[in-house]
Amino acid sequence: ISFFPSLFLPIPLSLFLPLSLSFRKHNDYQWQDGQPKVREIKSHSGKTVEMKCKAEGRPTPLVSWILANLTQVRGHYSGPRVSVTPEGTLLINQVSVYDRGHYKCIASNPAGADTATVRLQVVAAPPGILEAKRQQVQAGVGQSLWLPCTAQGSPQPTVHWVLYDGTAVRPLKPSVDPRVSVFANGTLHLTDTAATDSGKYECIVTSSTGSERRVVTLTVEKRDMAPEIVEASHRRTEVMTRMGKTTVLNCSADGHPTPEIIWLLPNGTRFTGSPDRGSRQHLGNDGTFVIYNPSKEDAGKYRCAAKNSVGYIEKLIVLEVGQNIVSLSCCCLSSPLVV
Ligand SMILES: *[C@@H]1O[C@H](CO)[C@@H](O)[C@H](O)[C@H]1NC(C)=O
Ligand SMILES: *[C@@H]1O[C@H](CO)[C@@H](O)[C@H](O)[C@H]1NC(C)=O
Ligand SMILES: *[C@@H]1O[C@H](CO)[C@@H](O)[C@H](O)[C@H]1NC(C)=O
Ligand SMILES: *[C@@H]1O[C@H](CO)[C@@H](O)[C@H](O)[C@H]1NC(C)=O
Repeated sequence: ISFFPSLFLPIPLSLFLPLSLSFRKHNDYQWQDGQPKVREIKSHSGKTVEMKCKAEGRPTPLVSWILANLTQVRGHYSGPRVSVTPEGTLLINQVSVYDRGHYKCIASNPAGADTATVRLQVVAAPPGILEAKRQQVQAGVGQSLWLPCTAQGSPQPTVHWVLYDGTAVRPLKPSVDPRVSVFANGTLHLTDTAATDSGKYECIVTSSTGSERRVVTLTVEKRDMAPEIVEASHRRTEVMTRMGKTTVLNCSADGHPTPEIIWLLPNGTRFTGSPDRGSRQHLGNDGTFVIYNPSKEDAGKYRCAAKNSVGYIEKLIVLEVGQNIVSLSCCCLSSPLVV
């Protein structure tokens, strides 16, 4: 017994992303019962289009397709870009605007034949960006960073970046800040990062078919760093002073968190500031240690220490307090050269 083949065009939505799918009445192709069998699909260029044509009947109907350029493809077929699966599904890879048109599926068996038509519309794709649309990036101070932004699409889109402060940087073009550049492939390169570089960086790709953007939120933070004494008195251990001459012992340190400066006196006492009123010693905000009116007893080994949550370091400074030589200088200077 043979049944007349009946034809379905089940086109799952998921196969045609992000296309609109619609049924249209069309009088060219009629079913036996008068139902038109035309389906319209829309695709972005570059995608793969899949057109299902499911035929039912006894004996099993043979499915063939007539492409938009009127080429007929019978049964299972595989060409470079167009193929028909054993189930009768027509696949077109890398679809282009030239593939637009009517595709006709014909199912036939000895009992008869039926046709259905798919009208394919191809529209140019808006540009895309390969990388994530939103990204959080964390970096330390003084680093180099590469923020990629790979544009995709046809026509080929152009790329530019807008920095946190609103300045635009284009590929291979010099930027206001010499630390910032954009490679030909759209990657933003940032060198010697500073905390002030934190903010939003936006990559914008544009073509005649639209635009797309990607936002990278950059946070540049000081990483924990053990203290380092950057300046101690004359970078030498010995400091000479004279009795009565106000002496400043310098000590400053770098580190994160900001290190605390502590002075250790020759007798081993820790001097942390807040001295008694009238004290001859004073700890400055910048870590300097001031001795007013030094005397012989102030001579000795001082240690400047810098401490934070990650480390501790100290530096030795030997203070020598000499005789007041002001009068000697006076004598030498005034020593007569003439006789
Ligand atoms: C029709 O299109 C198919 C698929 O693109 C191609 O293989 C075939 O050569 C074309 N035929 C003609 C006559 O242009
Ligand atoms: C972009 O180009 C730069 C320099 O030629 C290269 O170092 C980088 O790896 C490239 N990045 C991507 C994502 O292609
Ligand atoms: C400490 O620093 C001040 C100013 O930076 C400088 O004048 C002074 O000579 C320094 N003291 C010592 C002992 O190096
Ligand atoms: C250590 O020396 C400082 C200043 O020279 C003085 O104020 C303090 O009392 C001394 N401490 C001891 C325990 O001698």
